[in-house]
Amino acid sequence: MLIDYTGRVVVVTGAARGIGRVIAERFRAEGADVVALDLAFDEADESAAGTVAAGSGPGITMIPCDVSDPASVASAVARIDERFGRIDVLVNNAGINVDGLVADLDPARFARALEVNVGGVFAVSQAVAPVMKRAGTGRIINAASFAAIVPSIGSAAYAASKAAVVQFTRVLAGELGPWGITVNAYAPGMIPTAMNGFAELPEDAQSRLLDTLTIRRWGSPDDIADLLCFLASDFAGYITGTLVDVSGGKLATQIPSRAYESER
Ligand code: NAI
Repeated sequence: MLIDYTGRVVVVTGAARGIGRVIAERFRAEGADVVALDLAFDEADESAAGTVAAGSGPGITMIPCDVSDPASVASAVARIDERFGRIDVLVNNAGINVDGLVADLDPARFARALEVNVGGVFAVSQAVAPVMKRAGTGRIINAASFAAIVPSIGSAAYAASKAAVVQFTRVLAGELGPWGITVNAYAPGMIPTAMNGFAELPEDAQSRLLDTLTIRRWGSPDDIADLLCFLASDFAGYITGTLVDVSGGKLATQIPSRAYESER
């Protein structure tokens, strides 16, 4: 059996740029009809993409949506249901980074991290679940973070929100099991994007971060897309309620760089 997404509808949130964009493009390349949601899109994007998607091949339909606003989510999901009549896969990728020491952190920024990162996963999953239940099948895949496993100093808001995504994932997996819907989370390690600016750090700072990795290179959005194509496929029907670490073995051992030193 080959992984084939022909005829499947895949919804990716936060797909205007970064990892989400690559995930959307990958599912499209694998044959799916993809719906990309992002607050960075506007109505013009949706009608332009609608024209592209009207051809015979699969397309990417861009719909403006703020995942932290339940009304915006409800409207986007209703439009998807009306246009396609099904949602096979939901990738809850949208997220924001909020950093700052607890001592200095503005409570409104702390709340916003929770509102977008876990509130968004909740709102979109809640809106999409009835469409999947109707079909008796589905895959929901949520972006957590390595910060949910080992957090960094200054990441209290972000790490707490991502740890919440992991527990939310387990509970939802339990609640949707009877409908044959699987729910999983993934924990990317360090993937240079506009969100974190890793690629712009001074060379010695980059080197220190890379020293925490077992596979000593930055992650790429394709590393995530590879995992998601598997988790969303028929091959992964017995995997649910898990957190998959895609971090190049970050801190798998205490000082992974030792192996590279002895190799040299
Ligand atoms: P990014 O900042 O490059 O892209 C995030 C996208 O989400 C943007 O297009 C943005 O417009 C959209 N977005 C933000 N708030 C939204 C909202 N309320 N409603 C709809 N869309 C919204 O981020 P990146 O690096 O691509 O990260 C994607 C996901 O992966 C995030 O959930 C992030 O926490 C997670 N992640 C990323 C890591 C990395 O190293 N880049 C590491 C661990 C997790």
